[in-house]
Amino acid sequence: MFEECLIRGRRYAPARFCAPLAGYTHSAFRRLLAELGGCGAAWTEMLAARQILSEDFARSPYVRRRPEEVNLIFQLMVKAGDPLDRILDRLGTQGVTAVDLNLACDAFSIRNCEAGSALFENFDSLRRVATEARRHWPGQLTAKIRLGSRKPGWEARFTERVQFLETCGLDALTLHPRFFEDKFKRRSQIELIPWAASLTRLPLIANGDLGDATHVASLGASLQSASAIMLGRMAIVRPWIFATWDHPNSVDHAGIWRKMCQYITDDFAPPTALRRIGMFAKYYAANFQFGHSFRMAIGNARTMAEAHDRAEDFFSRSPALLATPSYAEI
Ligand SMILES: Cc1cc2nc3c(=O)[nH]c(=O)nc-3n(C[C@H](O)[C@H](O)[C@H](O)COP(=O)(O)O)c2cc1C
Repeated sequence: MFEECLIRGRRYAPARFCAPLAGYTHSAFRRLLAELGGCGAAWTEMLAARQILSEDFARSPYVRRRPEEVNLIFQLMVKAGDPLDRILDRLGTQGVTAVDLNLACDAFSIRNCEAGSALFENFDSLRRVATEARRHWPGQLTAKIRLGSRKPGWEARFTERVQFLETCGLDALTLHPRFFEDKFKRRSQIELIPWAASLTRLPLIANGDLGDATHVASLGASLQSASAIMLGRMAIVRPWIFATWDHPNSVDHAGIWRKMCQYITDDFAPPTALRRIGMFAKYYAANFQFGHSFRMAIGNARTMAEAHDRAEDFFSRSPALLATPSYAEI
C-alpha cells in the first residue's frame, strides 16, 4: 500500500504521511495515531543504526510495532562505516519492510558524527552508505533530505546527489526544503518542490510547514508534482488530522490526551514517561487558546499523578480552541 501511495505524478490527492520526529513518533504515539484512523504511512523517530543490533523489538518504544501499525517506515541515523549488512539483516528478520535513511538532520550532535545532513553533504560517504544500504536491503528504501548547505552552487550539489540516489536504486525521497543551517528559522521553500521533482523520476514526498487540508489545497501548484505530503509537528498537535482530512469531525481533546498518557505509561518506564508526556504537551497545547498554561502545568509536574490532576483541571474548564494551532516557536 505504501508503494501505491507513491505513484509518481499522482495529482490532486497526494497520500498523507506522518514524519519522523525524535522523541515524539515512538510506539505510544503510533498506537494512538493508528487508533485514530492512521495515515498513508508513518515513520519511526530516527534510530541510531548500530543500536538496531541490540534493540529489544518486543519492548523498546523506539522499534516496537503493534499489529495495527501498517506501513511503518524505520528511519536510520547512519554513517559511513556502520555495519549495514548486519543492521539491515536484523531489521529484515524482525519483519521490517521499509527503511529510510536520514540525510536531513541538522542537529549538531548528529552532524558531528557525519550523519544526517552532514552525510548528504559528504558525497563519498553518501555514495558508500546508500550503495551498501541498497545492496543489503531488498525492501522499500527511501531517504529524507534537505536542500543541503546554503552556499553558492547548492543547486548543482543537490541535483548531483538526488540523481545519484535515483541511480543507486532508492524508491522515493522526502524533501524538507530548508537548508541545514536554517534549522526551523526560515520558512520551508515548498515552491521548490516542482523543480526538485523535475530532477528525478523518483516519487517525491513534500514536507515542511504543511498544515491542514485547506492549507495544503492552497499550495496546489507547488504540490502537484509531489506523490505524497508528510506532516510533522501538525501531526503531533492533531494526531487525528489524517483521519479527518476530508471529513472534519468533532474531537474529544481530553479523551485523546488521556489515551496518549495511558499509551506512554504502557510503553515507557516512569521517569521517561513523564518526560515524554511533557514533550507531547508542548505540541498538544497548541490546540488551545491558553495552551501555554497547559504546557507549563504539565511540563512542571513532578509526578505522573500531578500531571494527570493538572490536565484534568485544565480540561474541566472546557478550554477554548484555536482554529489554527501555532507551534512554530516550539
Ligand atoms: C522535535 C523534532 C524532532 C525531529 N526528529 C526528526 C527525526 O528523527 N528524523 C527526521 O528525519 N526529521 C526529524 N525532524 C524533522 C521533521 O521530520 C520534519 O522534517 C520537520 O519538522 C518539518 O516538517 P513539519 O513542518 O511538518 O513539522 C524533527 C523535527 C522536530 C521538530
